[in-house]
Amino acid sequence: MSHSMAPPDTGPVPIVAHPGRSDRTPAIEVRHLTKIYGQRGGAKGWSRGKGAGATHKPAAKDVEFTVGEGEFFVIMGLSGSGKSTVLRMLNRLVEPTSGEILLDGKDIVEMADPELRAVRNRKINMVFQHFALFPHRTVRENAAYALHVRKEGAAARTERANWALETVGLGEWGDSLPGELSGGMRQRVGLARALASDADILLMDEPFSALDPLIRRDMQELLIKLQAELRRTVVFVTHDLNEAMRLGDRIMIMRQGEVVQLGTATEILESPADDYVREFISDVDRSRVLTAGVVMQPPIAVGRPGDRPSKVLERMNRPGAHAQGAYVLDADSRILGVVEGEAIAGAVHRPDARLEDLARPPLGTIRTETTLSEACTLVGGDCVPLAVLDHEDRLVGVLPRATLLQAIATPAASTLEGDRHHA
Ligand SMILES: Nc1ncnc2c1ncn2[C@@H]1O[C@H](COP(=O)(O)OP(=O)(O)OP(=O)(O)O)[C@@H](O)[C@H]1O
Ligand SMILES: [Mg+2]
Repeated sequence: MSHSMAPPDTGPVPIVAHPGRSDRTPAIEVRHLTKIYGQRGGAKGWSRGKGAGATHKPAAKDVEFTVGEGEFFVIMGLSGSGKSTVLRMLNRLVEPTSGEILLDGKDIVEMADPELRAVRNRKINMVFQHFALFPHRTVRENAAYALHVRKEGAAARTERANWALETVGLGEWGDSLPGELSGGMRQRVGLARALASDADILLMDEPFSALDPLIRRDMQELLIKLQAELRRTVVFVTHDLNEAMRLGDRIMIMRQGEVVQLGTATEILESPADDYVREFISDVDRSRVLTAGVVMQPPIAVGRPGDRPSKVLERMNRPGAHAQGAYVLDADSRILGVVEGEAIAGAVHRPDARLEDLARPPLGTIRTETTLSEACTLVGGDCVPLAVLDHEDRLVGVLPRATLLQAIATPAASTLEGDRHHA
């Protein structure tokens, strides 16, 4: 149980890096993917009345990315930036003009029809913005649709669909018709259908954008919960960076068919690639994206059982520390308690005073993954800065009030109001 990696007495503790996802097994690898509508096959049945030759500007240009197994990957950008085009090429609803799309190492661009159909039936499932439910079929039949297409038996279909409906909180609604459900519930059926299909990869094209904000929030939370349990590979399109950051392990930002930036929410917040990205960021609620592990500071005032109070007091008074108290840690860096400055000062001249006897429990602690928004109510309540613990309850950093405020404050960037996010 115990770890020998106890940080040194008072030295700085390394900041926990945002968990990178690049070490996952790749589920989707996209190389040099380009789409010019009106060339080579074109979109099947999607034409928006722009005949071939109307535009030769690439809708997607030399797009490259890799999605790891179980990763939640978000594509975001303004309207017309090529998000849907890229997403639909992943199952060839839109035919690529050039490039490769490897699913588990196999290029689906090269696949002949029967093989492609098998991939669409089993491996990939798409959730659309407008539910696409059959109005005259029950909710259960709608949820079981993929299994119906695969000609699976009635019992298996029912069982699978019931499980999926239960999972999205619609267990009671299997016999209803879609028309009897609210918009949010209908989108849950869409989600249930994707889950029931057992597809490894879910493609979602703005699935929540037709929902009102509160329902949308519920759906995002449902999806986060489902993803924590089911760990599907998800590619999710949105033009809302807040949604992207709430849901995505990584986010790919597109503009005019090209990838502008690809990274974690934190990476994008901390180093936006250009003004286009900066524009999006100015709308983001940083407090809900940034976590304590990302912005925390090394704990300065720390004592160990047996330390002399005068020694701890010295640390508290070091230039720049201005600490009003100190954490007392055991050998594994777990918190034994907090000693207040006054208690320490009072004990300095008592040779028998033991630090651990002066300690009381901290008023609160948080974890590295706690968002700053959640940390807000706890910060600044104690004489010591709020403790940040890892999964083994070890103190890995602290979150002083000033650090929290600084991290949340939007950097003074030139923000043009009003001329973005037109749908
Ligand atoms: N079937 C089509 N035929 C011709 N051009 C198309 C077709 N579909 C999309 N386009 C064009 O390709 C570009 C990218 O469109 P796409 O739908 O991929 O963007 P998007 O980022 O999904 O936008 P939105 O947020 O509005 O859904 C746009 O200029 C669009 O007009
Ligand atoms: Mg789109």
